[in-house]
Amino acid sequence: MSNIEALIKENAKSTDRELEKYFSQKDGDFKVLFDAMEYSLTAKGKRIRPFLVMQFCKMLGGRDEEAKIYAASLEMVHTYSLIHDDLPCMDDDDLRRGIPTCHKKFGEATALLAGDALLTYAFEIISGADNISDKNKVKAINIISKAAGRDGMIGGQQLDLLGEKNGVDYEKMTRMHSLKTGMLIKAACLLGCLSADVYSGEIIEKAEIYAEGIGRVFQLVDDILDVTSSTEKLGKTAHSDEKKGKTTYLSFMSVDMARQVACLITEKACESIKELDKDKTLCELAIYLRDRAK
Ligand code: IPE
Ligand code: IPE
Ligand code: MG
Ligand code: MG
Ligand code: MG
Repeated sequence: MSNIEALIKENAKSTDRELEKYFSQKDGDFKVLFDAMEYSLTAKGKRIRPFLVMQFCKMLGGRDEEAKIYAASLEMVHTYSLIHDDLPCMDDDDLRRGIPTCHKKFGEATALLAGDALLTYAFEIISGADNISDKNKVKAINIISKAAGRDGMIGGQQLDLLGEKNGVDYEKMTRMHSLKTGMLIKAACLLGCLSADVYSGEIIEKAEIYAEGIGRVFQLVDDILDVTSSTEKLGKTAHSDEKKGKTTYLSFMSVDMARQVACLITEKACESIKELDKDKTLCELAIYLRDRAK
């Protein structure tokens, strides 16, 4: 196992421990809702966004306990986005994180509600935390809501649907990638900065350039893996984009060419963060995400 793989694994364990804290209530009239939320959240995700939050926090000397709450909150928002992305009215997928999708297990209506509840719970845990300043709470909520909402992930998902019906041009497709995937990744980096009270200036500019780069590559590789990998390896249904008529990078170029684009963007991302990333963990992460097999 490489150094970066070991670091990701270690951080995933600590994220899982943090997430467990929020699911101690196990019964009640609507236990099924908690079960559906926990089912998708505790399934084996790569926990890349929490890793980014914690790594930016570490790099900038931020407060660990604050960053952990941001990391958990963002993973909830990400998991909600996956539950809704899989619904029959969206991508209609049966498998996620190696297990049946939330709606396959709990039914469509409960999956919809589990997604809604994860999204709102994410804001509840930040706003209710007693170890985050009011200033940082407002900032964090602003970062996440902007990244997840109309001008972020949801806007990107709408573009994705438009691409399904009419196709979109190359420029719109790259914008769709930046929005539907890049924005939550950028939020992760910014939340790490926030835990160190870094709000603006050169560090934020560098973090944003890095995040935009790895966000684009993340979705680009997701598109490549959909074509080149298998359902077994991915833990989600492979070869589904073409079936659904999705516009992806591969609507415009070959797999080889897309890999070259991924290499170029990754190089630039590493370059942009070089001065801050003294131990090269963020650059190693960018390369790991470029070369990942799932
Ligand atoms: C999948 O995200 C959806 C995209 C944004 C491409 P991840 O690949 O991070 O999924 P998990 O969290 O590991 O399941
Ligand atoms: C998902 O894009 C982006 C989200 C906002 C969830 P995809 O639809 O390509 O993600 P997968 O392949 O289902 O994970
Ligand atoms: Mg989708
Ligand atoms: Mg999908
Ligand atoms: Mg995909």
